[in-house]
Amino acid sequence: MRSTDQPKTYRVKSFGCQMNVYDGERMAELLGAQGMTATSEGDEADLVVLNTCHIREKATEKVYSDIGRLRREDGSSPLIAVAGCVAQAEGEEIMARAPSVKVVVGPQAYHRLPDMVAEAAAGRRATETDMPAEAKFAALPRRRKSGPSAFLTIQEGCDKFCTYCVVPYTRGAELSRPFADLVDEAKMLVEGGAREITLLGQNVNAWRGEDARGRSAGLAGLAEALAEIPELRRIRYTTSHPADMDDALIEAHGTNAKLMPFLHLPVQAGSDRVLKAMNRSHTAESYLKLLDRIRAARPDIALSGDFIVGFPGETDAEFEDTLRLIDAVGYAQAFSFKYSARPGTPAATMDGQVAPQVMDERLQRLQAALNRDQLAFNRASVGKTCDVLVERKGRHPGQWLGKSPWLQSVHFTGEVAIGDLVRVELVEAGPNSLSGVMVRALAGA
Ligand code: SAH
Ligand code: SF4
Ligand code: F3S
Repeated sequence: MRSTDQPKTYRVKSFGCQMNVYDGERMAELLGAQGMTATSEGDEADLVVLNTCHIREKATEKVYSDIGRLRREDGSSPLIAVAGCVAQAEGEEIMARAPSVKVVVGPQAYHRLPDMVAEAAAGRRATETDMPAEAKFAALPRRRKSGPSAFLTIQEGCDKFCTYCVVPYTRGAELSRPFADLVDEAKMLVEGGAREITLLGQNVNAWRGEDARGRSAGLAGLAEALAEIPELRRIRYTTSHPADMDDALIEAHGTNAKLMPFLHLPVQAGSDRVLKAMNRSHTAESYLKLLDRIRAARPDIALSGDFIVGFPGETDAEFEDTLRLIDAVGYAQAFSFKYSARPGTPAATMDGQVAPQVMDERLQRLQAALNRDQLAFNRASVGKTCDVLVERKGRHPGQWLGKSPWLQSVHFTGEVAIGDLVRVELVEAGPNSLSGVMVRALAGA
């Protein structure tokens, strides 16, 4: 492509959290609205958008190796745009270090991507990392098509400032999108084929707005309004912060039938000293008490969490506290990470940085405990009959893959279509999925 050619094809590659996936979809829609077409996997695109994640050092380093990999044999590159959280945090450095990058756009400015690409194609490199996000959502095109399970960002940013975390800096302050806009976007997604919507936010349960009658509403109120969309069958939300699990939301798990019995509620660690140093606003005990209340509202709720091992100063005994907490909860699934010092965060300069081998060893023990519990949870599901939302074809002929209410992957065979909600008896459990036998299609599905 010569520098004056406008790109005709594009590819968006998203890394990191589900919000980045959502942002990637929206960027693709923006480029599509300009008449550009997406390339299929493996084909070369005129424009490649790397939608990056800054959460851990490894994630950030990936950007530079990806940029290198895009170089062609003759030394040229497609037009490269770096978006996402690395763009926000290290935009200038990327521009200096990687001449093949022509566009740097932060997560709150990506509605400007098409203009910036046009500028870059005309030979001017463009950077935009302004905050906040108010203008962004209003500038995005209508949503037309959706798979059976869709993401919808309702809240963005974080005011919690956990001492290890870059998100408050890369995504900015907490911002809730307006109620009416969200109901509209949810309806568009459902019209486009969605049967399940996962509401997204860095602190999704901190969402606040005014409902249609001008009353102040939290996430429970929003979920109630969305549950009134008839063809929408399931509502999920992620990621929640323990401090924002209000009474109404806990109660909603018992009363809103479309709210799925699954909750991702990160705790990070089991030692109160470590939690305090992390600037988490809960203790191990207050977290466990909160889970008791949630389980009282919805006894079959499946729990998921995030864990960090090797936070600065974490002793062996403090790590054991985390293992004890895991034993007490019995997570259905979880994500766990070795602590990664991030530039500009308070924890990066704390005393007592933990040696990599110690972190490796702790992570292994932690993951063994989490894997044990995940398998136990899946095994305990065998014999249950539940609804499965069909998401895609399986590997074998006639086989389908879908999700249980508890977010387990379930495969089964039968005459169904993507987007159907079918009744399946769970008959066999593995660590990462279950197999089932279809009982009958749900009436109206
Ligand atoms: N807002 C969400 C998730 C933020 S990032 C929350 O508060 O739960 C997702 C996960 O990455 C975090 O929950 C945490 O477990 C992990 N994480 C964040 N910063 C990290 C760091 N510096 N090192 C290792 N893991 C980190
Ligand atoms: Fe990061 Fe903590 Fe905010 Fe989550 S709550 S995004 S871990 S600062
Ligand atoms: Fe990564 Fe940014 Fe999400 S740092 S985890 S892409 S909010």
